[in-house]
Amino acid sequence: MIIAIDGPAASGKGTLGKRLAEHFGFAHLDTGLLYRAVARVLMERSIPLTDRDAAAQAAQNLDVSHLEDDSRLRGAAMGEAASVVSAYQPVRDALLAFQRQFGAQEPGAVLDGRDIGTVVCPDAEVKLFITAAPEERARRRHRELLSRGEQAEYETILLDIRRRDERDMSRSTAPLKPAADAMTLDTTHLDADGTFRAALDLVERKR
Ligand code: C5P
Repeated sequence: MIIAIDGPAASGKGTLGKRLAEHFGFAHLDTGLLYRAVARVLMERSIPLTDRDAAAQAAQNLDVSHLEDDSRLRGAAMGEAASVVSAYQPVRDALLAFQRQFGAQEPGAVLDGRDIGTVVCPDAEVKLFITAAPEERARRRHRELLSRGEQAEYETILLDIRRRDERDMSRSTAPLKPAADAMTLDTTHLDADGTFRAALDLVERKR
């Protein structure tokens, strides 16, 4: 069984994905980490993010082990850079097989990202689209960055989130949008527990 979770930056889909995976005993993949890791390869080698060929090559040769434990991937700059390289079709193509393989695990898998229900796992049994108002997402991201000891300004984060939404939604390759058969959950007024309970309710309805 596959649970596909899509949604914009800081909508809570990562936390939700993790909890649903734990609840059902499924594997969990935060697919944003793949794009972040591609961006990091370029940044570490001082290659401009506009170099599509280098980005595609980095994606083809990506070491996908231990991405979960790598806190350097989670910063705001890496999210922004990821959204640049993720717009390149060859980068997306190179990461597709790994994501699909991950989704084929028994007894099931939870994948979260932007195009899981639309492109990566169009046949997923459960598709959730998680949203929240940009201001609330910026507040969450702000708290998260401060708690990790990063310097962060709320206004800057809100601008980043709006820019990233715009880029992810308007790109021609795998734009961020709900799959036709996705169930949308707005978490603006829900905390992590409330989001989990509401999502569990939606999943149970589909099982
Ligand atoms: O989810 P996260 O913020 O880590 O994703 C970073 C960026 O990677 C997103 O802004 C998006 O551009 C890209 N991404 C994507 N497809 C996915 C997951 C992430 O294009 N499935």
